[in-house]
Amino acid sequence: MAEIGKDIAQAQYFLENGQLVGIPTETVYGLAGNAINPESVALIFETKNRPSFDPLILHTSSLKRVEDFVLDFPERLKKLADSFWPGPLTLLLPRKPIVPDLVTSGLERVAVRVPKHPQTLALLDSLDFPLAAPSANPFGYISPTTPAHVEAQLGDKIPYILDGGACEVGLESTIVGLEGDDVVIYRLGGLDISEIEKQIGPIKVKDHSSSNPSAPGQLESHYAPRKPFVLGDLEKLISEKKEERALFGVLSFSKHFPGVENQFILSEKANLQEAAKNLFAVMRSLDQSNAEIILAELMPETGLGRAINDRLRRAAVK
Ligand code: TXA
Ligand code: MG
Repeated sequence: MAEIGKDIAQAQYFLENGQLVGIPTETVYGLAGNAINPESVALIFETKNRPSFDPLILHTSSLKRVEDFVLDFPERLKKLADSFWPGPLTLLLPRKPIVPDLVTSGLERVAVRVPKHPQTLALLDSLDFPLAAPSANPFGYISPTTPAHVEAQLGDKIPYILDGGACEVGLESTIVGLEGDDVVIYRLGGLDISEIEKQIGPIKVKDHSSSNPSAPGQLESHYAPRKPFVLGDLEKLISEKKEERALFGVLSFSKHFPGVENQFILSEKANLQEAAKNLFAVMRSLDQSNAEIILAELMPETGLGRAINDRLRRAAVK
């Protein structure tokens, strides 16, 4: 099994030798490898069992370092980078040839971000290459928000997990790019759209597609538990399942349902930040419980609620 520890030099050693390391970020844990070494990048795809058409995000420790890997940094996107990096924002920018084809799946744009986590920023500073890092889960499954989540699923395939505690944000980064003159959101995530709009005005959300997605976070079924996951009115669903004498678990936003065994509340205070932070851990707990079916409800469709609901809807797709 992978060693879990706080030794940045140890993580650096494995990465410099072409191996993969689980790394903490503010959003979710990443499965990191040397982004400009095609063999390390290939190992990421193999370890996650990820199809090669699904490109990876390149992580660096500063905006200045990003410039080594992109041909152009349009003004409006730079404004977002200045405002939100380090933080849960990924930008799609035209790549320089130094970025391997495998990282972008042959696309002309590379996804880049500066994560907000002190240990990972220190690790990135210790390396003379950027890190490619998808979420550290098997393809299609729930993203990890603790070192234990990474260990449980990829622990037998990687040597080391850098322990940075539980992720602060709990949802993957928001992915943004330009299409002509439009600023477009390709994946709703941990940076609330209204924050982005405050900086640069109205933007388009284009996060749904079923075949040949331009960001496979757009694939409909994703972030999914293994058990059937049903979204709807909890009151109604619970009484139906009770009648059927089914073994069910419940994921609610803030409400408590008396007499339900496997019940998880995302935020008793009905706080969307707190709900986002707890979401993936709760989905995993329910998946591992003795419940045979998971019942869940949508959050209010505002702020981070939109990104949480996006993950819930995808989890519910068969
Ligand atoms: O918060 C995050 O973004 C986390 C942490 C570890 O940084 N990473 C993450 O990576 O969520 P991943 O690989 O699980 O999701 C990245 C998404 C995928 O849906 C991928 O298709 C999209 O980003 N993507 C990456 N490069 C792209 C590109 N060149 N063009 C369009 N979409 C891209
Ligand atoms: Mg992922």
